[in-house]
Amino acid sequence: MGTFNKHIFLIGFMGTGKSAIAQQLGNLLGLSVADTDSLIEETSGMSIPELFQERGEDYFRKLETETLGKLAFLDRKIVSCGGGVPLKRENKEIIKKTGNVVLLTASAETIYMRVKEDTQRPLLKDNMNINYIEELMKKRQPEYDKTADIIIKTDGRNIFEICEEIVSRLKKLEDTE
Ligand code: S3P
Repeated sequence: MGTFNKHIFLIGFMGTGKSAIAQQLGNLLGLSVADTDSLIEETSGMSIPELFQERGEDYFRKLETETLGKLAFLDRKIVSCGGGVPLKRENKEIIKKTGNVVLLTASAETIYMRVKEDTQRPLLKDNMNINYIEELMKKRQPEYDKTADIIIKTDGRNIFEICEEIVSRLKKLEDTE
């Protein structure tokens, strides 16, 4: 599969701006946008907090992998991935094979500021503090790094600057592939 046909997957910790950046990138590149969490909510008819509460995290993770598998057959898209996607080997294989992977990063402080009022993230619901975010992020970092083709820092930058950098880094990546 040539780079031109590949999806662009945005990965990274909760609150690194994946959804907002996916929308803006979609506009810039004229590509449609998908979001694994929204697709899971549509197919299951349940919200993410409901899924975690009523069916458990393992069930949610199963739907997540199924969703990524289905995306492989669709036209080129920008795909905003739930923060846990790169933690599972099977998911990692799917996204590396069917797309280019952009990792968004931010400091624990920035993430806390972005997500502190949010009630839709079950993993942070009872742990809404900088220390917990920092610990979980540290634990996940090796898998995030391993999965990424491109790493983009988002701290202190606006969405346009971030998208500009992603587009120029993706172009370079295409040239080398
Ligand atoms: C999760 C991140 C969430 C969502 C679920 C689990 C995670 O998505 O998939 O709550 O494990 O990091 P966002 O990264 O879009 O918040």
